[in-house]
Amino acid sequence: MAHLEYFTGFGNEFATEALAGALPVGQNAPQQAPLGLYTEQLSGTPFTTPRLLNRRTWTYRIRPSVMHKPYERIANGLLRSTPFHEVETTPSQLRWDPLPLPTEEVDFVDGLTTLAGNGDLTMHSGLAIHIYTANKSMTDRFFYSADGELLFVPEKGRLLLHTELGILELAPGEIAIVPRGIKFRVELLDAAARGYLLENYGATLRLPELGAIGANGLANSRDFLTPHAAYDDRDGASFQVVAKFLGNLWATEFDHSPLDVVAWHGNYAPCKYDLTRFNCINTVSFDHPDPSIYTVLSSPSEIAGTANVDFAIFPPRWLVAEHTFRPPWFHRNFMNEFMGLIYGEYDAKAEGFVPGGASLHNCMSGHGPDAETFARASSAELKPVKLDGTLAFMFETRFVCRPTKFAMETAARQHEYYTCWQTLKKNFSPTK
Ligand SMILES: [Fe+2]
Repeated sequence: MAHLEYFTGFGNEFATEALAGALPVGQNAPQQAPLGLYTEQLSGTPFTTPRLLNRRTWTYRIRPSVMHKPYERIANGLLRSTPFHEVETTPSQLRWDPLPLPTEEVDFVDGLTTLAGNGDLTMHSGLAIHIYTANKSMTDRFFYSADGELLFVPEKGRLLLHTELGILELAPGEIAIVPRGIKFRVELLDAAARGYLLENYGATLRLPELGAIGANGLANSRDFLTPHAAYDDRDGASFQVVAKFLGNLWATEFDHSPLDVVAWHGNYAPCKYDLTRFNCINTVSFDHPDPSIYTVLSSPSEIAGTANVDFAIFPPRWLVAEHTFRPPWFHRNFMNEFMGLIYGEYDAKAEGFVPGGASLHNCMSGHGPDAETFARASSAELKPVKLDGTLAFMFETRFVCRPTKFAMETAARQHEYYTCWQTLKKNFSPTK
């Protein structure tokens, strides 16, 4: 595999050409673009979006994106979108084992399975949470979502994301964002791949405000990596592009690879981030802050402080709090919490929550440490402890996250999840 090069910085203005001289100088749309390329702008936000939030990229490509046959509907498989009303949503706590890896040949698109979602994609609000499982690379097949940006959270297997704007290598422990509309194909670098895929219908993910933390900390902008331009000049055979549009899958044929951008400049581009770069900030005295301190990326809503979705991680870190119950506390929340585990063991659950699995605790439903963890942490010696070899994450969202019919009926659902709290003892004593 060729050595991949990246630019650094989140949402920066980048300029890149895979061939020298492919990028026009001093203007976006010359009468004739260099090297016989076509000029095409990709607008990720409305033209009139304030400068700070405006996202667009100018591409110089072998053929414009318009050159394809009409789209035709194909089956959605287990992919679901708003409205999420296949089944009534329970207030019960939900948890799942990892979905099994495919035994037949399945590529990234065919292996997409939706667990839950919320909001209304036609109103640019809410999200869908998919699991991808694949054991076959996409070669002449490409995908894009017009419904939202995609956040990859791999749990098993390395991927090469071949996108219109360049190639990203992605491994478990890293994340990647592919913005709304950008075409890509997924190549597997290992025998099988599995991971979580957030489809964010709302405002584009961005770094959270840091407030009193100051100018540095949490995910630092310079650690986000965006690929250099790379193009795929393949003609002839039939290339299929699958579009996710208004919740359905549509397919069309191209007579060339759509990944034919030779040069581009702009700030609307895919990126990746190594979660070990997260500068984790936490207590050095007592108690632990709200888990918002672990926010990597946030999609804000129109209501201040109420995220369409926050992506937070629970990475390796030192636990040093004095006279404190150190694991996550018992909790009920306005927000809705979907959790996954990339590797290791989560500190609130002694068992049952395993890598590739998931849990969902919706609005005002109680959750917290299981009985075993509560007993252990209530009497543990409070010396400094390094919580190591673990990486859990949360998608925290303002709307109730509604499971799909598949999620409620799959054999991977742990119907006995509730029992992990049933043996919590009554310790109350009015005289103690
Ligand atoms: Fe919580």
